[in-house]
Amino acid sequence: AAARSAATLGEASTCEPPAAAEIEAIDNEPPSGEGTLKAKAVAEAVTAEVEAAPAAAAASAASSEPPSGAGASAGDSAEAAAEGKQVINPWAVEAGEGGIDYDKLVRDFGCSVITEDIVTRIENVTKRRAHRFLRRGIFFTHRDLDLLLDRYCSGEPFYLYTGRGPSSEALHLGHLIPFEFTRYLQQAFNVPLVVQMTDDEKFLWKDLTLEDAYRLGKANAKDIIACGFDQRKTFIFSDLDYHSHMYRNVLRIRKAVTYSQAKGAFGFDGASNIGKVAFPATQAAPSFPSTFTIPFGGRTDMLCLIPQAIDQDPYFRVTRDVAPRLGFEKPALIHSKFFPALQGFSTKMSASASNTAIMVSDTPEDIESKVGKYAMSGGGRTLKEHQENGANLEVDVPYQWLRFFMEDDEELARIATEYGAGRMLTSEVKDILIAELKRVVRDHQAAKALVTDETVEAYMRCRALEFDAPPAKPAS
Ligand code: TYM
Ligand code: TRP
Repeated sequence: AAARSAATLGEASTCEPPAAAEIEAIDNEPPSGEGTLKAKAVAEAVTAEVEAAPAAAAASAASSEPPSGAGASAGDSAEAAAEGKQVINPWAVEAGEGGIDYDKLVRDFGCSVITEDIVTRIENVTKRRAHRFLRRGIFFTHRDLDLLLDRYCSGEPFYLYTGRGPSSEALHLGHLIPFEFTRYLQQAFNVPLVVQMTDDEKFLWKDLTLEDAYRLGKANAKDIIACGFDQRKTFIFSDLDYHSHMYRNVLRIRKAVTYSQAKGAFGFDGASNIGKVAFPATQAAPSFPSTFTIPFGGRTDMLCLIPQAIDQDPYFRVTRDVAPRLGFEKPALIHSKFFPALQGFSTKMSASASNTAIMVSDTPEDIESKVGKYAMSGGGRTLKEHQENGANLEVDVPYQWLRFFMEDDEELARIATEYGAGRMLTSEVKDILIAELKRVVRDHQAAKALVTDETVEAYMRCRALEFDAPPAKPAS
C-alpha cells in the first residue's frame, strides 16, 4: 500500500492524478504500521461568541440551509406517513408506497449530489479505487466535500467524525454502512477519527436506564472496532464519560441556538423533555476540533468530515448554521442512502423490528431463513411472467442488497442484465445474496471475536492520537 507520509501530504503533487496502475483495489486489511508523527502545534481557539439569532428564519436565510427537516417532527411522522408523505429525520424514516424519493430529499434538504467528478477526484487524491459505496451512488450527497478536498490538497489537515446511538445490543447491517465507509476513508486519507456513542441521547429518547445505555455503548463499540479502525488514530467516546471535555463547546452551541430554531429543525414541542431540547448541541460539538484538545494535541486547525446516513443531516444543518457565529469552520458532510429493510424500500432497516433486518450477530441459518422468507422480490409473479418481463431491479431487495455487498462490479452487472431480462430467477439471486451475507457476517464475527474489553478500553481512553498532519500554518 502506498502510504503517504506527512512530508508529502502538503505538496500539490499528492493531488495530481496518479498513473492508472497506482489506483489499488479497496482492501479490507488493517492499515500498515507506517511511521507516525504526533501533531503538536498548538493554536488558539477563536471563539467569538455571538448573540443567538432571534428567529430560525434569520439563521436559515443567512446560511441558505433550511433549518427544518423534511418537514415533520417525530410526533407528526405517523400521520404524515399515513398520508403518503415522506418523513426523514433522526427518529423516523417513513416513505410512501414508491419508496424514499431521494431526489425530493436532496431538494428539501438542499444538499449537493456527489458527481462522478468528485468520485474521480477522490480516486486521484487517495491514489486508490473509490469504495463501491461511492462507485454505486450509495453515498450520494454531501455538503462542502469539494471544498474540503481543495483545502486538503493545499495542505490543510482534516479528521473524520461519526457516531452511533446505542439503543440495541447488536447492530444490523445498515448500521455498519457508515462505519465500513468511514474505515475506508480513514485508510484512504490516513486521518484521525472520533466516534461518538450517544448513550445520553438514547437515555433521553428511549425507555432505557443510564446504566443500560452506557453498557450498550461499550457493547456496540466492539462491533464498531471490528470494522477495522486504526487504534492509534481512533478515539471512541461515550458522551457520559467525555461530556466534561466537550462542555465548553456544548455551552457555546446551546447559547447560539434558540428554542424556535431547535423546534424548527427537530420538531420539539411542549411535551419534549428539556434534555432532548438541549441534546443537539452535544451531537454538534464533536464537529469542532477544539472539542478534542487531548486527542488532537491542541490542534484546532483541523477540518471535519462527517460520514452519516441522510437521516442525521438535521443535526449538522444546525451545526453548520451556528459554526460561523462561533468562529468555527463548518464541518463537511457526506451522506448515504438507507440500507433498505428486507420488506422493501418504504422504510430503513430497524433493529427493533428484527424481521426487517439482518443483525451482525445472526447465524447462517438466520440469514438463510430471513432472506428466503422476507426479502421482497421484484421478480414476476409467475415463471412465465418473469421470463417475459424480467425482474424490476429497482424494488428487488436481493439485487439491491447485492449492490451494497458485492465487490465485483462485473459480476453485479451480469446479474443485473440476466435477472433484469428474466433469465435468472429470484431464487438464484437470493442464493448469491445469502452467500455474500454469510461471508460478511462471518468475517465481522471473526473480527469481533478478537475485540476484548481491554481493546475497547484502549480505543476509548482519552489520549493523544498519533497521526500525520502537515504543520499548522503560522498565525498571521
Ligand atoms: P444511529 O445509532 O441511529 O445510527 C448510526 C449510523 O448508522 C446510520 N444508519 C443507517 N445507514 C444506512 N442504512 C440504514 N438502514 C441505517 N440506519 C442507521 C445512521 O445515519 C448513523 O450514521 N444520533 C446518532 C449517533 C451520532 C452520529 C453522530 C451519527 C452521534 N454523532 C455523527 C452520525 C454522525 C444515532 O443515533 O445514530
Ligand atoms: N469489509 C467487509 C466487506 O467489505 C464487511 C462489510 C462490509 C460490511 N460492508 C459492510 C459490512 C457494510 C456492512 C455494511 O464486505
